[in-house]
Amino acid sequence: MQIPDSIQIHDLRFVPLISEDEIQDRVRVLGQELTDRYRGKNPLFISILSGAFVFASDLIRAFDSHCEVGFVKLASYTGTRSSGDVQTVMGLDKDLRGRHLVVVEDIVDTGRTLHFFLEHLRAQQPASICTITVLRKPEAAQFPVPVDYVGFDIEDKFVVGYGLDYDGLGRNVAGIWQLLK
Ligand code: IMP
Ligand code: MG
Repeated sequence: MQIPDSIQIHDLRFVPLISEDEIQDRVRVLGQELTDRYRGKNPLFISILSGAFVFASDLIRAFDSHCEVGFVKLASYTGTRSSGDVQTVMGLDKDLRGRHLVVVEDIVDTGRTLHFFLEHLRAQQPASICTITVLRKPEAAQFPVPVDYVGFDIEDKFVVGYGLDYDGLGRNVAGIWQLLK
């Protein structure tokens, strides 16, 4: 398939950053590492909605042992900037005590979302927690959050695709695209 030089979403233009093939290669490696770590432990993958659902669906299929999946909706973003406030819009309906949790994020930007959510999870006394994200922006970090597995470290520019959106659009775009500026 021919990949265009750029795509338009609302008022902004985006250029290719990471191809779908590169992502899939990385997801296979991460899935294997998680399989080695959690085989036979029935981990609970917790996907943070909405952005992480695409990654989570690939990751659990790269995980070669039994596991469960849950979803939680947190919101902190409007447009291209963090609103600075994290809300739980939809919670988990599972008992987390004694469970091995794998928290699945699309991107760790300031770290606010993950910081807030990990506190919430620790209070429920799981057996263990690990975190995995497709993307991380190290320059944007404001909160000290432990990220155990990172797909790709990227520069501090707004991106879309592979689950990530710009005001609702772009989640279905294959690969990761960076704001042209
Ligand atoms: P944080 O709480 O600042 O780490 O932001 C995390 C959330 O903000 C992610 O789960 C995304 O939903 C959203 N986000 C951060 N950076 C981007 C981006 O470049 N594109 C799209 N969404 C982003
Ligand atoms: Mg998100």
